[in-house]
Amino acid sequence: MTTDLRAIAVEDLTSVEADQELEALAREIKEHDERYYQKDDPTVSDAEYDALRQRNDAIEARFPLSVRPDSPSKRVGAAPASGFGKVKHAKPMLSLGNVFDEDELQDFIDGIRRFLKELSDNPDIPLDMVAEPKIDGLSISLRYEHGKLVQAATRGDGVEGEDVTANAMHVTDIPHTLPAGVPDVLEVRGEVYMSKQDFLALNARQEESEDKVFANPRNAAAGSLRQLDASITAERPLKFFAYAYGDVSDVTWQTHGAFIQLLKDWGFSVNPYTRVCNGVDEIMAQYDTIQEHRAQLDYDIDGVVYKVDRLDWQDRLGFVSRAPRWAIAHKFPAEKAIAKLIGITHQVGRTGVITPVAELEPITVGGVVVSRATLHNEDEIIRKDIRVDDLVLIQRAGDVIPQVLRVICHDDAAVPYMLVRKCPICFSRAIREDGETARRCSAGLICSAQAKERLKHFVSRNALDIEGLGKKNIEYFYDKDLIKNPIDIFHLSRYSNVISSWDGWGKKSVDNLLSAIDEKTNEHIGVECHKLIFALGIPKIGETTSKALAKHFVEFKHFIDGLKKASIDSHTEEYKEIKNISGISDDVINELCDFFAEPNNVNISESLNEILYVKPYEHVAVLESEISGKTLVFTGNLQSMKRPEAKVRAEALGAKVTTSVSKKTDILVAGPGSGSKIRKATELNIKVISEDDWLALLDKAKNQ
Ligand code: IVH
Repeated sequence: MTTDLRAIAVEDLTSVEADQELEALAREIKEHDERYYQKDDPTVSDAEYDALRQRNDAIEARFPLSVRPDSPSKRVGAAPASGFGKVKHAKPMLSLGNVFDEDELQDFIDGIRRFLKELSDNPDIPLDMVAEPKIDGLSISLRYEHGKLVQAATRGDGVEGEDVTANAMHVTDIPHTLPAGVPDVLEVRGEVYMSKQDFLALNARQEESEDKVFANPRNAAAGSLRQLDASITAERPLKFFAYAYGDVSDVTWQTHGAFIQLLKDWGFSVNPYTRVCNGVDEIMAQYDTIQEHRAQLDYDIDGVVYKVDRLDWQDRLGFVSRAPRWAIAHKFPAEKAIAKLIGITHQVGRTGVITPVAELEPITVGGVVVSRATLHNEDEIIRKDIRVDDLVLIQRAGDVIPQVLRVICHDDAAVPYMLVRKCPICFSRAIREDGETARRCSAGLICSAQAKERLKHFVSRNALDIEGLGKKNIEYFYDKDLIKNPIDIFHLSRYSNVISSWDGWGKKSVDNLLSAIDEKTNEHIGVECHKLIFALGIPKIGETTSKALAKHFVEFKHFIDGLKKASIDSHTEEYKEIKNISGISDDVINELCDFFAEPNNVNISESLNEILYVKPYEHVAVLESEISGKTLVFTGNLQSMKRPEAKVRAEALGAKVTTSVSKKTDILVAGPGSGSKIRKATELNIKVISEDDWLALLDKAKNQ
């Protein structure tokens, strides 16, 4: 049948024939891929293989609605083993802020009531919140078009995730098709997880076959979903709870509760402990119920999530950085256990900070085996008088590194802790500066531990994100003298023959690694400016600060030039300019200047700028509107919303909001009771609009 169909020109195929042929092509191309990439045993020539792919692409171009979730065209590049394709999320996948007790929850609710004017004016208006368990798995976004699953993506960094469509097809509870009547475009988001029972059984099988065992069900779920060979995912028992939506062509529901009901109607699994609650008492009662049932549940949860039920309120509340103002996670308290301290070792971090680590007799804390815990710093050890052979209380909370809380019982013969005077790795002096809690290795990049940690940071996910160059490989390449600094990474191709000859490295894995590295120099992929700034690993420069810097300088080259000048003298224009960037404190600017005062750092940054394709910073897309780029001032008593909301909404439309009227002001929004600001605006010939005009403007932007 397939051969017959192939004789038909693409233009003459019917849609039924197209479906049949795409299915056959997906199967055949997958088989050839497996033969080529995994078994080293291809049965077709390259030209025949290319012809199959071209035919697949041509049919898909003519029948876009027939594109299969497991289509070969969805795998980026010809080699599936080169990693997952990237997917830019149509709407970012956000994280959640945390509260840990009832007081913090009350503050969160009060904050919402203050933000929404009608709720702050009228305490009797109820604020319904939906409470639901926080599933400890990995979040995923499923895109349905015309009721068909067309793409599945992991959260990644929230903006861009990995294409795991082929894998998601094997997750129980993820429907491949949805009933008629669902929106044309519907992104359903939720958590992929593995049940506790399935996790134990999987680990038993893994152990038997001497394969990797997983530390907890979440790691097992992540490891099982992120398999380049989706047939491995198929053998792993994964499940899915739906709880949110992303891009939707037509939102027909008004509340989160109604959406959860729709999800059920459409065939998704939703968590049975999902409840609409009113007021902190009801919310806390649901929290208690969920916590009481936690041990009996067959899946891990690490807290309860509360979400404002009304979607119009969710919209108005919006987001602060990466978390919504309308939802919060109430985390369960940390779990504790007593363990024997069998040794104290020292770890050297990226900036030379030496952290004492407790080596423990392995113990299970909340289902996870713990054998190491942080001791924070030497002051903590001395204050708590922690000694080797003591029994100590340890605590583990979610993802956070386990920590030693205190001593439960000393061994009589135990010796007190001795301060380290030398770096445990390079034996250079370990110094503690006045006013610092940390002791640091003084050797900088000469210390191999610091150099390795810097490199690990450079390639890590939120920095350069080089697939296939993880922590282990950095150690390996460093020890083999092939990667000593970031530039060496981009010269690795010179040694491809050497690497291919190493144990465990075939030609294919080397090719994959080199192409992942090469992507960063390629103008179609490249590296975002803020990620490269973050990748430099300058102390105190986290992701948010990197973004603020990238936003200011736009291009990496300008960033380097600006800092080169600023680091020479704090009286330069450049220094003042950087100091004025919002979010840049004195500490931050000092660290930046120290970094760029070092010629080696300048050289490396400049070489990176030459070798890599660095994309200029792009402003996060805001809704285009007539106030984009304008400066607004609000005055008077707005009746419809409070100032913070007005500011957030103006900013979402690309405007800047300031508090006083000046020559730079473009528009004054004057609510009832405005006085002096109107006079000043009129004097300066600035446009003044009423609250109604402001609401009309918001409405117009929304409907665009
Ligand atoms: S809602 C905008 N609901 O928690 C709100 N998240 O810490 C987006 N999670 O990345 C998330 N259970 O992986 C939501 N019932 C639930 C959840 C949940 C687990 C995870 C999710 C998210 C993380 C945030």
